[in-house]
Amino acid sequence: MSTSTRLPSILLVGCGKMGGAMLDGWLACGLPPSAVIDRHRDTLPAPHVLVPSLGDLPASFQPDVIVLAVKPQKADAVLETLARRFARATLLSVMAGRSIASLSRVYSQAATDTAPVFIRAMPNTPSTLGAGMTGLYASPDATPEQKQHCDSLMRAVGQTVWVDTEQQIDAVTGISGSGPAYVFLLAELLEKAGVEQGLPQATARTLARATLYGAGQMLHSLPTDAAELRRNVTSPGGTTAEALGVLMASDAWPASTSQAVAAAVRRAGELAG
Ligand SMILES: NC(=O)c1ccc[n+]([C@@H]2O[C@H](COP(=O)([O-])OP(=O)(O)OC[C@H]3O[C@@H](n4cnc5c(N)ncnc54)[C@H](OP(=O)(O)O)[C@@H]3O)[C@@H](O)[C@H]2O)c1
Repeated sequence: MSTSTRLPSILLVGCGKMGGAMLDGWLACGLPPSAVIDRHRDTLPAPHVLVPSLGDLPASFQPDVIVLAVKPQKADAVLETLARRFARATLLSVMAGRSIASLSRVYSQAATDTAPVFIRAMPNTPSTLGAGMTGLYASPDATPEQKQHCDSLMRAVGQTVWVDTEQQIDAVTGISGSGPAYVFLLAELLEKAGVEQGLPQATARTLARATLYGAGQMLHSLPTDAAELRRNVTSPGGTTAEALGVLMASDAWPASTSQAVAAAVRRAGELAG
């Protein structure tokens, strides 16, 4: 998915699985001159700047948005360095479970007279293909322009939704942030079940992956409820009904899906400390 809105310039701190996925999308969408701090990448196309640490940034570089995509446990050291360099900054954090209050506290304790504005985003890795899903929450002091900058960055790599409370970001984490892993697990399990039913591994793998892709495309393209799409595949007394009788037993998928999401949301809360 691309956007017609001009993207803001960024400083990306942390270019691993999530930061790298977003960067690939942004580069494909015409990112203005930006900088990336990364110890693993060899190159970045011009006019962007790739440096191994914050101290190596050109002194004059002033991004519209600083994107924080390091592990939550690494954030404090990064924020302390950023605070000494950027007194006024829009910081877009994609870190699970780090609250705006805790990020702001570290920033303002590291350097006096700072006025950072934090916006939290919870993206997912399909962002690398422009098919990401991001939930966003802005602190009350964020300006419309700061929100627009962050929204355009995340829309460049997929869809966005804004939530009303910061707590809801943890729920976004449990659904769409972690969600691709649930789908990949289903692909693994379907492939394994296909092998158990006598199919060659490669055939089972193709069937599982293509089925998830096709069903995903239907969910994406059609306005029809998921339940209606499911019923359309389910003839009374047929094969699908037999399988769904197992999956939809109250102690099977309905319970385990709710429990799994609740566990992810709880963990996001624990990480917030
Ligand atoms: N993965 C997902 O699906 C996903 C989804 C939503 C949100 N997130 C969030 O995204 C964040 C990153 O997760 P990830 O899965 O991308 O982790 P990751 O693959 O480990 O990436 C983190 C990157 O940050 C780098 N880094 C650490 N300290 C740094 C510093 N001081 N300066 C510059 N770079 C530094 C790491 O480099 P080193 O290896 O050299 O330390 C690594 O390349 C997490 O906070 C997570 O909550 C992830």
